[in-house]
Amino acid sequence: MILQGKTILIGITGGIAAYKMCELIRRFKKSGANVKVVCTPNALNFVTKLTLQNLSQNEVFVEEFDVKEWKPEHISLADEADIMLIAPATANTISKIAQGIADNLLTSIACAFSKKMIIAPAMNCNMWQNQAVQENIRILKSRGVEILEPESGFLACGYLGKGRLCGLNKIFNAVCEWLSYSEKLKGQKVVITSGGTIEDIDPVRYISNYSSGKMGFALASCAKSMGAEVVLITTKDFEAPFKIVKVKSARDMQTALDNEFETSDIIIMAAAVADYRVKEVSAQKMKKGESDELTLELVKNPDILRGLCEKKTHQCIVGFCAESENLIENAKEKITKKGCDYLVANDISRSDIGFGAENNEVVIFDKNGETKRLEKASKSVIARQILEVISQ
Ligand code: CTP
Repeated sequence: MILQGKTILIGITGGIAAYKMCELIRRFKKSGANVKVVCTPNALNFVTKLTLQNLSQNEVFVEEFDVKEWKPEHISLADEADIMLIAPATANTISKIAQGIADNLLTSIACAFSKKMIIAPAMNCNMWQNQAVQENIRILKSRGVEILEPESGFLACGYLGKGRLCGLNKIFNAVCEWLSYSEKLKGQKVVITSGGTIEDIDPVRYISNYSSGKMGFALASCAKSMGAEVVLITTKDFEAPFKIVKVKSARDMQTALDNEFETSDIIIMAAAVADYRVKEVSAQKMKKGESDELTLELVKNPDILRGLCEKKTHQCIVGFCAESENLIENAKEKITKKGCDYLVANDISRSDIGFGAENNEVVIFDKNGETKRLEKASKSVIARQILEVISQ
């Protein structure tokens, strides 16, 4: 059912396993998918255009400048597909995509493609082991491309080793799994905050913190890929295919949240909100006085999360807590104090995770006292795991 009405864009490159794609295209078609095929010119040495055309019941695209409508094919094919699968993917095509080279229709589409991409490599085992190829695989993985690793066995080139296209079931299931995942938050509005708030002292100085906003951005990107309507309220500069509301202070953030509150279904407070602001912001740059000391009078900012939890109706509200000591005890106390549905706790005493880092490792607490530890991983992987827990 999940494939019904979905458009799968299949890229076939020049490897002997290209013939296996005929069977896979048939399976996708039988399951109700609309299949569009794009081949590299070399792929046609292994499988004919006519076969692919008949099986996919669609025109098969090869040439880049074979423009039939006002939109170039590499843009229109990228736009209409729900997912792009490249199988078999040669070392050459993998490396070009990783490096942003767009020298044929398939690599141009890949370059313009912003949705989920799954790549199933197939090549000689020594090519698979090649350091450049492995580095390019690592680059693609870090950008969220799913790599279905080749399998070991006898290879068409006569070698015995790792390089054979993985099983067709595995490819079929990976596509189905992603397409069902991409609907998990369909119809839901997810509002996420990110970054450290900025509290002015005077026109040139402020109080803030080290939060980079990356965790919130990863959550927003992930929620978008799960089909949600996303609003990211952030103090940082991001560009993304969802609504971004740029704010500065804690009170700006509160106003922006209030504007979205009623229509939202999930609210995730990943922002590091300053607990205090300067009582009186100086309109002019403060001058250095005679005294060796300067005292700034601070007043408490509103506790935004607590306020949202107090007025919540149907929303699922998630807080974050950054702790430098006694993570578990502090988090348990905080989830009760704030009244949120989940609290995601991370240990900021470690430099390899949390503030500013690329990775994170967190413990998710729910209001019933259950906990779930997520092992160290990139912020986008952690984001996906957090959203899976919440969406259940
Ligand atoms: N938070 C908030 N408003 C504040 C302070 C924090 O909404 N004024 C939110 C944060 O976005 C986060 C959660 O509350 O989701 C916990 O933030 P944290 O700084 O860990 O907790 P505090 O309540 O500030 O407690 P403390 O700093 O004393 O640990």
